[in-house]
Amino acid sequence: MMPPAASTYAPHFDTLFWMLVGISGAIVLLVVGLILGFSITYRRGSKAPRGRLPTRFTHEIEIGWTAATFLTFLFLFWWAASVEVASAPVPRDAMEIHVVAKQWMWKIEHPNGQREIDALHLPLGVPVKLVMTSQDVIHSFYVPAFRVKQDVLPGRYTELSFTPDKVGTFHLFCAEYCGTDHSRMTGGVVVMTRADYARWSSAQPQGDTLADQGKAVFRRLGCSGCHAGSALVRAPSLANIYGKPQPMQGGGFKVADEGYLRDSIMLPQKDVVAGYTPVMPSYQGIASEEDVVRLIAYLKQPGGGAEK
Ligand code: CUA
Repeated sequence: MMPPAASTYAPHFDTLFWMLVGISGAIVLLVVGLILGFSITYRRGSKAPRGRLPTRFTHEIEIGWTAATFLTFLFLFWWAASVEVASAPVPRDAMEIHVVAKQWMWKIEHPNGQREIDALHLPLGVPVKLVMTSQDVIHSFYVPAFRVKQDVLPGRYTELSFTPDKVGTFHLFCAEYCGTDHSRMTGGVVVMTRADYARWSSAQPQGDTLADQGKAVFRRLGCSGCHAGSALVRAPSLANIYGKPQPMQGGGFKVADEGYLRDSIMLPQKDVVAGYTPVMPSYQGIASEEDVVRLIAYLKQPGGGAEK
């Protein structure tokens, strides 16, 4: 009845799901039972007593029913929240994989530069963090076997993390209607033992890592001309800024995360760093979403962005 449960999160989710089904079912049975019971007892012509119940008794029922419902809801809220909160922190050693969605395919970029389309190979038992964006409309990354789903939005990065704990190939769906071929925007997540994964990985064409590709983009788009060291145009250095707060013109700070870096490339007038003039042109239409993914991978490296 359920898809296979193939992530560490799945059993927690399933317990919660079945508990909700159980409680809802019990309430439905109770209500249907009472309706049937009362319909029979108080059918037309029956001799059942029809006088008023004592007020004290009706109050007790009223208060009891309200309190029971309230406590049940509180309990469910606490339970669902604790399952979510417990699964929220992304382990530090999580494998970071980039996903770029477009009509109608999933493009996957591994940190070592490997690329896949509509397929994602993962090693068993290793926590994974997906950093996702779309190059056109809203899509949604959905793997029922992992019990995870996350919208993938143009112009923004969303994250999804999970730990696969079963070997096999699992369906990947797009769960947001995104146009004509939405229903065909599917793929497979292939979970392999670590040995098989290593074998698969080394059998792939070996190229530059994502960060190295980013370094090439950094030069090709001319970023290094202004941002690296002794340029004529004064632009802030990008070395080691990832994850650190940046002072903004007009006061305040912004943390240089993926979203900030992307905005700074595509919408450079949005966040101007204190002490600099907003002279940078937008790279919208010049840098693709994949270029941006590579640039960010490069800038996240220690010392990335310093080369001329
Ligand atoms: Cu992409 Cu539906």
